[in-house]
Amino acid sequence: MNFKDMDVVSIRDFSRAQIEEILERSRAMLPYANGEKVTRALEGKILGNLFFEPSTRTRLSFESAANRLGAKVIDVSQTSTTSIIKGETLADTIRMVEAYSDVIVLRHPHEGAARLAAHFSRKPVINAGDGAGSHPTQTLLDLFTIQEELGAIEGMNVIILGDLKYGRTAHSLAEALTVFGAELTFVAPETLQMPKDTVEQVRRLGGNPRITDDIEGEISSADVLYITRIQQERFPDPAEYQKVAGAYRVDKAMLREAKKELIVMHPLPRIDEISPEVDETHHAKYFKQAFNGIPVRMALLTSVLGVDI
Ligand code: CP
Repeated sequence: MNFKDMDVVSIRDFSRAQIEEILERSRAMLPYANGEKVTRALEGKILGNLFFEPSTRTRLSFESAANRLGAKVIDVSQTSTTSIIKGETLADTIRMVEAYSDVIVLRHPHEGAARLAAHFSRKPVINAGDGAGSHPTQTLLDLFTIQEELGAIEGMNVIILGDLKYGRTAHSLAEALTVFGAELTFVAPETLQMPKDTVEQVRRLGGNPRITDDIEGEISSADVLYITRIQQERFPDPAEYQKVAGAYRVDKAMLREAKKELIVMHPLPRIDEISPEVDETHHAKYFKQAFNGIPVRMALLTSVLGVDI
């Protein structure tokens, strides 16, 4: 399968077969991602890592992935240090980074920014999160984590809990899980439920999601509990945020009724939606999930650059 020069803007850009291929390549990257083996497959290549919105995991794991592959990284982590502050457009900024690098990773506060960047760059662009839009590399590492931990995605009963309105990881994940034949339950306070267009897309893809605000009634049948943070920064009105802040919190007592095999995932950062006491349970997989960003992003970088390991 050839991914050379492909832009990764949305999970919808991939067929199921392509996702399966990327997950397979990610698995092959594991010994390189954890340092057991060494490769210089991307020696001589440069990654342009543009982060116009805060990030810990995505920025550092792309940087780590590039380093593990022998590539160099040029990066921006604040708009204030670029000429955007003087009025330069995103299109011109992308044209410059395209000239200075071989592949561009972009996080931006505005939905659609990655699509625009892909339009202006002849080099591959990877969307690292665009506003409340999508975060396709997070979705790939989420799928990878479920497959690694449970052995399969098809038929798994997945609860997606939290801020499903603004949580961009929830939107792409719900669609991808449906393509892979998982059963979905969306649990959120009414005002933060999954947007209608995502629910409709899930139904078009053949899914039949359950929609509820009651987590307690759902836990015992779940294979995956995927929790998201309330995205305070995306609320237009702070008073609206105050109405839902602290609306849900998963703790050990809540997991008492869970299946032994249940895995708890979270794209992180977490605020108070998972009690720290859950970290010590065998259910907690969110830190391993964050590590999985490295092999998955290694697989993506080599794939879009057309380099075999
Ligand atoms: N999961 C995720 O995107 O985390 P960061 O915002 O820290 O990159």
